[in-house]
Amino acid sequence: MPTIAVTRKIPEAGLRPLREAGDLRLWPDDLPPDTEQLADLLRGCDGALTMVTDRIDAALLDAAPSLRVVSTFAVGYDNIDVPAATARGIAVCNTPGVLTESTADAAFSLLLAAARRIPEGIDYVRNGEWRAWSPMVLLGHDIHGATLGIIGMGRIGQAVARRARGFGMRILYHNRRRDRDAERELGATYAPLDELLGEADFVTLHVALNAETRHLIGARELGLMRREAILINAARGPVVDTDALVTALRAGTIAGAALDVTDPEPLPTAHPLVGLPNAIVVPHTASSTIATRDKMATMAAQNLLAVLNGESPPSIVNPAVLERDQGSRASGMNERAGA
Ligand code: DGY
Repeated sequence: MPTIAVTRKIPEAGLRPLREAGDLRLWPDDLPPDTEQLADLLRGCDGALTMVTDRIDAALLDAAPSLRVVSTFAVGYDNIDVPAATARGIAVCNTPGVLTESTADAAFSLLLAAARRIPEGIDYVRNGEWRAWSPMVLLGHDIHGATLGIIGMGRIGQAVARRARGFGMRILYHNRRRDRDAERELGATYAPLDELLGEADFVTLHVALNAETRHLIGARELGLMRREAILINAARGPVVDTDALVTALRAGTIAGAALDVTDPEPLPTAHPLVGLPNAIVVPHTASSTIATRDKMATMAAQNLLAVLNGESPPSIVNPAVLERDQGSRASGMNERAGA
């Protein structure tokens, strides 16, 4: 029986098959394990189902030499040192696809909330400021007819574009590669980054975090955005330079920001972004629906068990590990057969 660690409580849809397949070590707290606790939890395990909050680096992998698979409960895996895992023959798996639509729903909700100043309206009512209908109160920005700039036209970026079409928006996108299919199907127009930033009323980020995209949106890029523009980030916090964003929001050089992700996470309550009236911050919950978290749990468990059973997982980040595995199994068989 394999030993399997799960680093936080996840939906039963994922825990059940793992419990049936092996000895399950489930981290019991609501807060994530710290580095030492994570190493203790993973030591002696064959598989680990991990979260975006777990830092999986070479030192941790060395502390868990029997590990064969790290299956993350997320599409993003910037918290995992994939080359270090590959070098140790450890498969890294993730959950793309199942969270696309919910994440796009959330990004679009943030866009709507910021454009129409929904959180400010809620506060206005709660604080007893609503004394009469007023022609000049809480004036927001139109969504219909506005230009949406999508940075990162992968699965989630495209799902956001589909929503934008329904709202009658003009869609610009920027991506590493031009995507002619997306252009045709979604009516989106490719634009160089600076051009997109200069034209969009809403800029929404859907890129993976890596060395190229860290601080992709910094002081220079914020400076290119229109004064009426709103920045939406449902990708990863460090894609935006937080200090530069605070400066732009304070100075009013952009109209607002709506963030599902921040740098740092969690954002301390004393952080300027929490108090700024033109910033909306929610706690990294874009994929957080009952149905989607069930699907993520199911897929993460399937990934993990497939690797342990020598099968192809639904989604693997470093397939070379399995190819190598299969290669060495085949040559072992050949040797045994005297080939
Ligand atoms: C992801 O999947 O990468 C999210 O950030 C966690 O839901």
